[in-house]
Amino acid sequence: MAKDGSEMGINTRLAHSGNNPHDYFGFVNPPVVHASTVLFPNAATMAGRSQKYTYGTRATPTTDALALAIDALEGSAGTIMVPSGLAAVTIPLLAFVSGGDHILIVDSVYFPTRNFADTMLKRMGVEVEYYDPRVGAGIAALIKPNTKVVFTESPASNTFEMQDIPAIAKAARAAGAVVMMDNTWATPLYFRPLDHGVDISIHAATKYPAGHSDVLLGTVSANAACWEQLRETFFTLGCCAGPDDVYQVLRGLRTMGVRLEHHQRSALAVASWLEGQAGVAQVLHPALPSHPDHALWKRDFSGASGVFSIVLAGGGQAQQHAFLDALQIFGLGYSWGGYESLAVPVWLGDRVVAKGSYDGPLIRLQIGLEDVEDLKADLARGLAAAAA
Ligand SMILES: Cc1ncc(COP(=O)(O)O)c(C=O)c1O
Repeated sequence: MAKDGSEMGINTRLAHSGNNPHDYFGFVNPPVVHASTVLFPNAATMAGRSQKYTYGTRATPTTDALALAIDALEGSAGTIMVPSGLAAVTIPLLAFVSGGDHILIVDSVYFPTRNFADTMLKRMGVEVEYYDPRVGAGIAALIKPNTKVVFTESPASNTFEMQDIPAIAKAARAAGAVVMMDNTWATPLYFRPLDHGVDISIHAATKYPAGHSDVLLGTVSANAACWEQLRETFFTLGCCAGPDDVYQVLRGLRTMGVRLEHHQRSALAVASWLEGQAGVAQVLHPALPSHPDHALWKRDFSGASGVFSIVLAGGGQAQQHAFLDALQIFGLGYSWGGYESLAVPVWLGDRVVAKGSYDGPLIRLQIGLEDVEDLKADLARGLAAAAA
């Protein structure tokens, strides 16, 4: 907000949200506070814990700066910071599900989320069920009296189906279930889950917020109804993030808007070009008009980031590997959201509902900040190798 109360543009907010420079001698960036012990001035203050900071695991001026910045972007009541994006998935699940509960998870979820549910949650006695990403309001038929959480992720990991988040959230809320969303792909710049009925928004800040493939961090932001329970679980587990990583993510946020614009533009240029290339059966990018869920993306999202998949026109693992091995600029590596382009083979063997039917093997591409013509030339090398 400006002093006159008007809402400022997103890049202005990214540049100035979080810390107040005048709280720390005018330095524009907040201090990186390395802390376990915090001193109290006297025994009464200590006994009453009646000061702002009490111990390093709970909060510091550095974590507060990032939490405030994320809350401003998400419209949330509070945000916790944890050591990885995966911890940002597992901690809210541990906060809200108990033995005997039922949980609905989208079948196209990030694989380690499924792995956590299928191993630890099942061991705790949680009933885990996967639903079709295109279920929409039909989720109501899957909700049981003991359904505690509906876990969404849109677009889908690797296959990029869009979910009707408002319809799913409405049905889940009506049944008293908590709605969580892994919103890493869109970032709060292109989708604000809490505005669409979601209770808890999850981010692998490792990706676009950090932006340079050198930091692991997760953030979990909750609405007022869920905030206390999330925060208590965070304190109970002691799973706090290191100050340098928190600082790096706040630093990354300052430029995230301009980086995302570039990722978005380049990814769309590359995706549109790929649609016209021999050897490509399909491009799975929700911002392309050809995408079956394009209307849903357009209705709810205000932008697209730089990750999508392609389906090769026939072939199998040999063609997939030939494509990947021919690439010279795209690195073969996990994660995304950094400055550099990456490619990974997609494996769908974990799916139980949304198996899809594709003409050939899938490859996921993260479009980095390199020049588009160079990226196209690299992908052309891959396609030629797959065809040979
Ligand atoms: C959608 C999604 N959520 C969560 C994560 C986990 O993030 P991290 O690598 O920081 O554990 C990833 C990582 O690839 C992801 O793609």
